[in-house]
Amino acid sequence: MKQDLILTIFGSTGDLTARKLLPAITKLYKQKKIPNRTMIYALGRRDYTTEVYLNQMNEQAFKPLDLKLLSRLVTYVNMDITKVSDYDLIKNQIDSVKQESTRQLFYLAIGPDLFPIVSKNISDSDLVEIGNLNQSIIFEKPFGYDLASAKSINEMLWNYFDEKQIYRIDHYLGKEMIQNIMMVRFANRIFEDVWHNRTIKNVKIIAKEDEGILGRAGYYDQSGALRDMVQSHLMQIMSLIAMDVPLSYFSEDVKDEKVKVLHHLSFDADSLILGQYQGYLDEKGIHEDSKTETFVFFKASVNTPRFKGVPFYLMTGKKLDKKESLIIVEFEETSEQRKWNLPLSTNKLYIKIAPVDGVGLVLNSKVPGLTDDVETVELEYCIACNSYKNLSEAYEKLLLDCTQNHKTLFTRWDEIESSWHFIDQIKKHQKTLVQYASMDDLDPLIREKTGESMQ
Ligand code: BG6
Repeated sequence: MKQDLILTIFGSTGDLTARKLLPAITKLYKQKKIPNRTMIYALGRRDYTTEVYLNQMNEQAFKPLDLKLLSRLVTYVNMDITKVSDYDLIKNQIDSVKQESTRQLFYLAIGPDLFPIVSKNISDSDLVEIGNLNQSIIFEKPFGYDLASAKSINEMLWNYFDEKQIYRIDHYLGKEMIQNIMMVRFANRIFEDVWHNRTIKNVKIIAKEDEGILGRAGYYDQSGALRDMVQSHLMQIMSLIAMDVPLSYFSEDVKDEKVKVLHHLSFDADSLILGQYQGYLDEKGIHEDSKTETFVFFKASVNTPRFKGVPFYLMTGKKLDKKESLIIVEFEETSEQRKWNLPLSTNKLYIKIAPVDGVGLVLNSKVPGLTDDVETVELEYCIACNSYKNLSEAYEKLLLDCTQNHKTLFTRWDEIESSWHFIDQIKKHQKTLVQYASMDDLDPLIREKTGESMQ
């Protein structure tokens, strides 16, 4: 039977496919967001049947997979993706089920070291023809290992594919509240007028995780928190928070403004703290004297007229007290507030990304009743607690956008280039790793360096 959508996954035996891609596809399919005639080819070197493959995926997944549905959609193809001679296996299968209008996605859920060879093989075997916009190629992060490797990967990709066919994933861009940042900033007059260095005191961008490396030693030990989280997710958040008003809300204009932020970054080397959680060296597959950081904190500056002088505190780490990703925008005190001798707080806007999406606004208020006391209150909008119980996961949104050829939520090359440039600067300042058991070991150091608490 001819198909309307064909998704081919390279590196399909990895945890990303089990934990994110297959659940996302299942949900999109059940909600009829992707065509009824959808086919998935899962490519891997292991000698599996489709049934064995899906059972393996089920074991790696966080929640049980719908194996009944997936066994109708998925075909496992045993091949060596580094050998062009093996590509006939997949090309023949795709050719037998595709028609001219079939949307074809090629998802590279593999490390960046394999991007060049797999891209070349895809091109040499004519799986993807340059310029055919029905065929797109999707690259999972990280895109490279540093600026030099990212550049060489990118130059090579442009030999084989048109930029319009290339999708570079940063799954944070598919998250509900990250998509909402521009709406909060630009569609609310109360924020539009105060979004600058005259009223904003500082910005905190936090991505804490309670889990460790979840069996991803091979990847993580080469990468570390700076490359794994900061170069992609935290840089994207920072550019959305600090960008100027774009010319329009079309993808390219928004990206032009985000890139300007990334071109104007600097960081305070004295503030840099790198940490490694206690027990990291005992994780399976980690080198016994690994110096890889699982925690990073630093103060950065966005040297644009809008944000010059406002500290941005960035922090991410594994094995911390809880899973929590959020942005805190703290405003200056009011001029009146300074005159009163009352325990007033500053206003804060919370943009909450995980574990629940939402927005919070911290205000000062009089304690109700026959008193003059003040209290700090939070107005809270919790998306999942309200009407939207079944929020979509980032990968659902991103996969759906790929099927519809929408590129807004994917990173453009110059965004990646400038964020690697920034990370490379930070990487030059290697620090002694702080061994930590919890935030209690780290927060005093942060306070000592900046006067701020990140707890
Ligand atoms: C991934 C990183 O990009 O993001 C992981 O490789 C990290 O190390 C994950 O755990 C965090 O994503 P989320 O969606 O759980 O916040």
